[in-house]
Amino acid sequence: MTHAFVKQPHRSLAGQKLAEVASAVAERPIMALFADDPQRFAACSLRVGPLLFDFSKTHYCAAIRDAGGALWQAAGWRAAADALIGGGIVNPTEGRPALHTATRGFRAPAVAANGDRIAEDVASADAKMAAVVQNVHAGDYTAIIHIGIGGSVLGPAVIADALRLGTPGRYDLRFLSNIDGHAFEQAIAGLDPARTLLIACSKTWTTLEMQTNLAQALAWKQAAGVATPYADVVAVTARPDLAQAQGVSPERIAHFGAWVGGRYSLWSAVGLPVALHYGLPVFEALRAGAREMDAHMADALPEANAVLISALMGFLYAGVWGRATRAVMPYDQRLNLLVPFLQQLELESDGKRVDHDGDPYTGPAMPVVWGSVGTDAQHAVFQWLHQSSDWCPIDFIAVKTPNHGHATAHQALLANCLAQSSALLRGRADGVDAAQVSPGDRASTTILLDRLDAHALGALLAFYEHRTFAWSVLMGVNCFDQMGVELGKLMARDLTGPMAGAPLPAGWDASTAGLIAALR
Ligand code: F6P
Repeated sequence: MTHAFVKQPHRSLAGQKLAEVASAVAERPIMALFADDPQRFAACSLRVGPLLFDFSKTHYCAAIRDAGGALWQAAGWRAAADALIGGGIVNPTEGRPALHTATRGFRAPAVAANGDRIAEDVASADAKMAAVVQNVHAGDYTAIIHIGIGGSVLGPAVIADALRLGTPGRYDLRFLSNIDGHAFEQAIAGLDPARTLLIACSKTWTTLEMQTNLAQALAWKQAAGVATPYADVVAVTARPDLAQAQGVSPERIAHFGAWVGGRYSLWSAVGLPVALHYGLPVFEALRAGAREMDAHMADALPEANAVLISALMGFLYAGVWGRATRAVMPYDQRLNLLVPFLQQLELESDGKRVDHDGDPYTGPAMPVVWGSVGTDAQHAVFQWLHQSSDWCPIDFIAVKTPNHGHATAHQALLANCLAQSSALLRGRADGVDAAQVSPGDRASTTILLDRLDAHALGALLAFYEHRTFAWSVLMGVNCFDQMGVELGKLMARDLTGPMAGAPLPAGWDASTAGLIAALR
């Protein structure tokens, strides 16, 4: 299918020039950049609503800024961002737009390039979601189990967890994703089957994990004497026809368009558990924060655009500096689930080996994102960050004002966050044994939130969504499909029979055949 993207812009003249500039910059430590410019913090930090981005502890500098600006131009960033927001076919393999910006009310086009009526769809989906919220709130539920996997669970789970302290919620809200009976047992533990609402969330409505867990949850209700278990199910899906055919009442089906990518869908009806638990105004505040980031991504020039600076530096660390991973370290317990969310967002989106035309992609691979909350992480993986012969760039995330009154602990938490990024930057060499030497010059970005409320969280999650898209523009790949995941799903289906005792068809490898025999 035709597309509007520039072919692998990193290979363009502007891309080559940027790589040369970055290689020259890499010859000098970041501390030298601070020595060059006493105003470096001011020059390399910028604010987007409640978020402050500090890029001064990376190698970002005037030379990279200028060469980077030329690359964004050569990459057709303006046209790519316009296509994303305006409903262009940004997912050519599936012939679709990807309008998560529209689901949160940002410049929703009336009609997308494939003819989908977006503004109308958004309005009807929002009206239906509000009606479902009202319908459920009128009931006497005490608990909710949200059942889904991947993009149909990770977004609402991050948000529910992040807002748990400080925002009053109505239910015992739990999430069930894994197709593992242990996960199921944990999800139902201590709940009253008669007063538990089940949200079945699946864009396609066919996903094995959701269907298996839903069937188990319905059986659990039935075994407890609930006569009509489907009456306690709310469906969230882009296939309301399938949900209704399966037995979910039409008043309890919240829908969203096929034009929303699964891992970008938390702003649509997929965010229903957030709206049910914390209320629609909180959900709207989340969307408003995301819209603030949308406007920044779309309108700010590359040199003043946090999304583009972060994506550019990430691309350079992967390409010029050869870094295969990157870490995200939130210094806030409430962001414990952020990294798994980012892993799906970034790796399912940009873990690609061919470009938009099906030709081999030849640039740096999307680095594997990993990390965990500080200060716990300091006592686990930071040794590697400081002294290993390998290293990776880091995003530190910290929150200025907490939702608790433990001032001493909070100051210590923030002091640790700042100390770590400074130690990684400056290192230690003078007057210590070889084993105590830390080389320093290990780059990090700090993102400071005023508070961790719905608005700031929306802006933060939208920032990472757009960073992922910007990366894909530099790569020249489709960040809205996930063909690799489909292969494993199909093969698992083919093994269902053999796992239950049927003969294994020819063509399977000897290892899998041996393991199946061992499991029987
Ligand atoms: O992991 C593959 C994937 O297709 C994701 O992209 C998606 O978020 C997830 O499975 C769940 O799919 P669905 O929402 O259709 O159940």
